[in-house]
Amino acid sequence: MAAQQGEFAPTSIIVTGGAGFIGSNFVHWVVENQPGVHVTVLDALTYAGNMANLDGIPADRMTFVHGDICDAELLDRVVPGHDAIIHFAAESHNDNSIADPAPFVRTNVEGTFQLLEACRRYDVRFHHISTDEVYGDLALDDPARFTESTPYHPSSPYSSTKASSDMLVRAWVRTYGLRATISNCSNNYGPRQHVEKFIPRQITNILCGIRPKLYGDGRNVRDWIHTEDHSRAVWDILTRGRIGETYLIGAYGERSNIDVLRAILQRMGKDPDDFDWVRDRPGHDRRYAIDPSKLMRELGWRPVHTDFSEGLDATIAWYRDNEGWWRGAKRATEERYARQGQ
Ligand code: NAD
Ligand code: TYD
Repeated sequence: MAAQQGEFAPTSIIVTGGAGFIGSNFVHWVVENQPGVHVTVLDALTYAGNMANLDGIPADRMTFVHGDICDAELLDRVVPGHDAIIHFAAESHNDNSIADPAPFVRTNVEGTFQLLEACRRYDVRFHHISTDEVYGDLALDDPARFTESTPYHPSSPYSSTKASSDMLVRAWVRTYGLRATISNCSNNYGPRQHVEKFIPRQITNILCGIRPKLYGDGRNVRDWIHTEDHSRAVWDILTRGRIGETYLIGAYGERSNIDVLRAILQRMGKDPDDFDWVRDRPGHDRRYAIDPSKLMRELGWRPVHTDFSEGLDATIAWYRDNEGWWRGAKRATEERYARQGQ
């Protein structure tokens, strides 16, 4: 689609964390939907990054840079000449952050700081990908949802480092006039999500003949959105969002963990009680829920993947068809969970 007058129309973007789950889905979305845009992926290829996530991207549409967002000298070489950075790179898993918070502080806080400084040096637009977890949690019976004015109240090392990075972005906008926006999205699902996360862990457990594992009482609620709907929202905010603003991204997808697990079990032909209750996560947030009305009102965004069962079936099919993609990571992940009693 041609850009409207007054829209930001980037032709050359950097996607940090583009070899991870949501970043790679965003890269595929841009390449398929924005023909005039060249993507530079900057990714350190940690345990969560995988070059196979970028298979199928034509060579003339993407440049891959293997590197760390904390490396200021590398940023001086890579950033000049680009119109925007869309910043997905992070340490992203709560359980890992509880076991060892150090890489979370480094990548999520220091890494975001280095990117902001590079954007300031070279006058590059910045879009920061964040999470609804910065707002803490809601009670199960609370009618409220998170909005852009909900106070920050993060619970875990992961969410507190994401909250810190959001604060850095806000300060760089106000103090240095950096052209930046922030989006805080709810829990994503879809293809290429690491097997440490809830939905892929349970699907691949069943495929491996391992019983799924449910934390605590299973009544915690997450607000699920398909990753493709997230990608489109990020593009809308990048090109038409107001500088300095935060937009919440969610698709009215609240579901308890036990309901999601039972839906997976049913769709994979298993008994509804064919799972293990395991030790709860320390500090486990009870419920997340997003009010996306600002994004809908200002930018006209709407989710397309509104049928969760359909999205789940497609996700299950993807893991069935791509065992080679997850088999190696599965063993290491389950060994780690076993050590934690989960
Ligand atoms: P992921 O763990 O699947 O991928 C993270 C990527 O970042 C990997 O490719 C990894 O190699 C890369 N990376 C990590 N440290 C790096 C560093 N120092 N330098 C360069 N690259 C580095 O994560 P994800 O689930 O795709 O999440 C992406 C972003 O979206 C994160 O910022 C996360 O906080 C946010 N988010 C995630 C969810 C969710 O449901 N997963 C929801 C809302 C927001
Ligand atoms: P997760 O995918 O780790 O996302 P987040 O912590 O960012 O919400 O977990 C989603 C929910 O599922 C969360 O309430 C924890 C729970 N959970 C389980 O019950 N069992 C599991 O094996 C995992 C990984 C998560």
